[in-house]
Amino acid sequence: MPFYDPKHLEVMYDAATIEARNRELGAQITADYRGRGELVLVGVLRGSFPFIADLCRFIDLPVEVDFLGLSSYGSRAESSGIVRMTQDLSEPVKGKHVLVVEDIVDTGLTMKYLLANLQTREPASVRIASLLHKPEGMKVEVPIDYVGFTIPNRFVVGYGLDFAGKLRNLPFIGVVVGDKPIP
Ligand code: IMP
Repeated sequence: MPFYDPKHLEVMYDAATIEARNRELGAQITADYRGRGELVLVGVLRGSFPFIADLCRFIDLPVEVDFLGLSSYGSRAESSGIVRMTQDLSEPVKGKHVLVVEDIVDTGLTMKYLLANLQTREPASVRIASLLHKPEGMKVEVPIDYVGFTIPNRFVVGYGLDFAGKLRNLPFIGVVVGDKPIP
């Protein structure tokens, strides 16, 4: 028996489907950035850790990897748009191409904040790669350059995405059915 209750978790994308999509995104990113100068992948903690770990191995370029932590005030259900930086990058990105690697873009408020913040550091360019995108939830326009999967407006978990702090370690992306995914 797994630690979660399979009756209360509907699989949306299994591990093989996620891997295949990561491979495609990695090939596209490789082609787009080849010969363009230094590229830094910036993972947004905490949710992006499985995605950036897998995606970076499908990018056939000498990338750097850095992380920053963001946390939104207020409840999950109602994104306030007030974002707090819980951890900053380890190194400057001035003159480098930055590819932000995010787990999911919902309202877009978190990415809007981050883009404005990164622009002040004078990078050569900034683009966004998000594993998931919920277009119905968008409150502000942010360009998402690489999208893994476009999904309906449902709360998803697994592969980095949490439910009350848990379920980030599921190898698939799922939807909670009912309210007790962990017995
Ligand atoms: P945004 O600012 O509304 O675009 O929200 C982005 C952040 O909200 C993500 O980085 C996630 O941490 C969180 N989030 C949004 N939708 C979901 C979801 O369906 N499951 C888990 N976390 C989510």
